[in-house]
Amino acid sequence: MLTQKTPKPLRWQRSKYSPLTRQIDVFSAAGTFLFYLWWDRLWGNNASATKQKRAKWLIQTMLDLGPTFIKIGQALSTRADILPLEYVAELEKLQDKVPPFSADRAVAIIESELGNSLFSLYREFNERPLAAASLGQVHRAKLHTGEQVIVKVQRPGLKELFDLDMQAVRRVMRFCQRSFAWARLYDLDAIYNEFFMILYQEIDYIKEGKNADRFRDNFDNYSGIIVPKVYWEYTTHKVLTLEYLPGIKVDDRKTLQACGVDIKRVNQLGICCYLKQILQDGFFQADPHPGNIAVSSNGSLIFYDFGMMAEIKALAKDQMIRSFFAVMRKDVDVVIDTLIDIGLVEPMSDMTPCGA
Ligand SMILES: Nc1ncnc2c1ncn2[C@@H]1O[C@H](COP(=O)(O)OP(=O)(O)O)[C@@H](O)[C@H]1O
Ligand SMILES: [Mg+2]
Repeated sequence: MLTQKTPKPLRWQRSKYSPLTRQIDVFSAAGTFLFYLWWDRLWGNNASATKQKRAKWLIQTMLDLGPTFIKIGQALSTRADILPLEYVAELEKLQDKVPPFSADRAVAIIESELGNSLFSLYREFNERPLAAASLGQVHRAKLHTGEQVIVKVQRPGLKELFDLDMQAVRRVMRFCQRSFAWARLYDLDAIYNEFFMILYQEIDYIKEGKNADRFRDNFDNYSGIIVPKVYWEYTTHKVLTLEYLPGIKVDDRKTLQACGVDIKRVNQLGICCYLKQILQDGFFQADPHPGNIAVSSNGSLIFYDFGMMAEIKALAKDQMIRSFFAVMRKDVDVVIDTLIDIGLVEPMSDMTPCGA
């Protein structure tokens, strides 16, 4: 029945991967990249084509190293403030390049997690994945009750891989902190701790389902925001079953226009939705890339992914509201004060805005 060809497993997909081999792989990738940077600097090779070539190499290496590094790349893809644009443009492509795992593997996980055969669980199950992301893969299915659902199956062995990568990344980080002054400019320890905390949270689909329920409750009376229903009886830590809600990719301008969707209204809806999440609910979707939010044919926003949610404490929320109104009043001093209070900006001796 399942005829999909199994792709050749990458190193991280094999069951036996010793901590030492992993560390060698991670160190050689980081070392090669640092060498490229050093080499380009030495020869003053600052051309855009060179940066693009290095960025392409980096993307392929991250894909080969697997989920942890794909996630690091995806997080960096939004940081046009710290990375050259050539890197940002390549890193954005990471989203669509993650290879799927075999349907046989996905079915085996579903059956073992839900404790029943695929045939007893679903009337129909599409073995061809609808989407493959860094941590999971999504299949369409139909329940015996006739409801259309998507089944998100977690990539096998993620917890074990993260355990290995925590050690490997810490070693690379320590090496950079000891060897390079630039690495000491950032609070790498805090970034490292936060990154891995979120990563472990993202592989708990029960938590993700609860987040979806909470988010849906927050937007109960808002018809423009749609959150798929969670089918709890078909959900475990590694399998998440949601109502199937097809949509148009939020950045697919052509299709949106062809369907007569008012793009300006969708933008406003997105802004209001985020302001409510941050300033009112203090609970927001912290990974708003185009794969995670779609637009329905009537212009509503559909949220798909609740793996990375953040909470804002009441105090920070008050300060954000203060800073929001200060921005509206163009009151620079209050904006800077509140950003310092929240910890987003480091106080300096001269805090006058550039050009003032
Ligand atoms: N409820 C849904 N209905 C329709 N498509 C969905 C649904 N949930 C996810 N998808 C599709 O699967 C893709 C990946 O889902 P997502 O939840 O973002 O997975 P991941 O957590 O692995 O990133 C989405 O970009 C979307 O195309
Ligand atoms: Mg996603």
